[in-house]
Amino acid sequence: MSRSAHPAGPRHADVYPEGHYTAPATDLNELDPKVWSRTVTRDADGALTVGGIEVARLAEEFGTPAYFLDESDFRARCRAWSDAFGPDADVFYAGKAFLSRAVVRWLQEEGLNLDVCSGGELATALDAGMPAERIAFHGNNKTVAEIERAVEAGVGRIVLDSFQEIVRVSHVAQRLGVRQRVQIRVTVGVEAHTHEFIATAHEDQKFGIALADGLAAEAVRRALTLDGIELIGIHSHIGSQIFDMAGFEVSARRVVQLLAEVRDEHGVELPEIDLGGGLGIAYTSEDDPREPHEIAKALSDIVTRECESAGLRTPRISVEPGRAIVGPTAFTLYEVGTIKPLEGLRTYVSVDGGMSDNIRTALYDAEYSVALVSRSSDAEPMLVRVVGKHCESGDIVVKDAFLPSDLAPGDLIAVPATGAYCRSMASNYNHALRPPVVAVREGEARVIVRRETEEDLLRLDVG
Ligand code: LLP
Repeated sequence: MSRSAHPAGPRHADVYPEGHYTAPATDLNELDPKVWSRTVTRDADGALTVGGIEVARLAEEFGTPAYFLDESDFRARCRAWSDAFGPDADVFYAGKAFLSRAVVRWLQEEGLNLDVCSGGELATALDAGMPAERIAFHGNNKTVAEIERAVEAGVGRIVLDSFQEIVRVSHVAQRLGVRQRVQIRVTVGVEAHTHEFIATAHEDQKFGIALADGLAAEAVRRALTLDGIELIGIHSHIGSQIFDMAGFEVSARRVVQLLAEVRDEHGVELPEIDLGGGLGIAYTSEDDPREPHEIAKALSDIVTRECESAGLRTPRISVEPGRAIVGPTAFTLYEVGTIKPLEGLRTYVSVDGGMSDNIRTALYDAEYSVALVSRSSDAEPMLVRVVGKHCESGDIVVKDAFLPSDLAPGDLIAVPATGAYCRSMASNYNHALRPPVVAVREGEARVIVRRETEEDLLRLDVG
């Protein structure tokens, strides 16, 4: 949303206060490559195409609302991350952003590893044939059954999140007669937000074991003495949708400091560190994300430098991008229903989905872009709020955006950058049927997660 000191265009000049919501200088038909997936473009008729297929055809075949995922873009992003980090580091895709069997297969084909954080994600990964040693298992409250399943399957690592869990995993592994590789997740005292990081008051959260007060050092002490587990490293994750590398640098420095303390106390050099995920993507043209190679360089430089000054061998680094891989690769396609101009305020554009397919706007006040995609238009911009069809006034998909003022019911509009945390956080609120995910690649589109049906809903209702 662009805000400038200039009054808005003729249609809005009298209704929007100065300094507010100026119509964008750019042509509304332009698709900013920062927020749209790589194969998205407009064809000669002005309609959006992805992977060479026009949206009207996609809507006809798969219905709306639906998520369309640009498979070549997903694969290219996987490769960009693994090339950037190179053979001496590991990239774990964070499955919580979006996971399906097809995604697991793509990850395998592109040589990535997978981070799962629940029994359900683990089951999906194993079912799709991900080799267990390439899976990391996370979570602040894994059940004993989940731990057993992970240890039995032979996951490459379990990330321990509490003192109880160190003991639990050790017991399960001993019972199963194996030695489970583990990392300890520490809270480094950095709370990262989108554009800033605050180095205070962040230990007050449920994840990890604080470095402060020597708690993490005590966790290492215990993990090193217990049977059934092999401590291979330290894990840290500082937040999500982060643009500023400074938080990662502080985190890397503190994790390396702990490695040095462990070496001094136990004579052990832990061979791995994991710096988590959290790299931001562009939801609007105002966001400026870093490229994987810049991130890789910044992280490996800081770890190498810190290790050199502590006299440590440089550990193997791993990272866990979720949003940065899948987020930009998909858009949600909606059909416009009712259009309600509110004099002096804005125009409410209702679509056939809403907070059940994208909860992020309601939950985090997240910003999104939107475009008319079934055709182009030269009509003047109108300020809109794109809302869903749920019985809730907070059911907002795009809070403030401009669409052409000739928008009409039946038009298709699309919200880009919905690949991460939209389908994976979708709900059945108001008994909405969760939309399908359709993978599009080189002129072919195929459903990878089908649309829910009323039978699916009723099957669970056994009363
Ligand atoms: N590793 C760990 C340990 C994590 O907890 C997370 C995200 C990731 C990696 C991946 O983070 P990413 O690269 O995707 O930012 N629902 C929120 C995001 C929650 C993220 C939770 N953990 C949202 O929609 O913004």
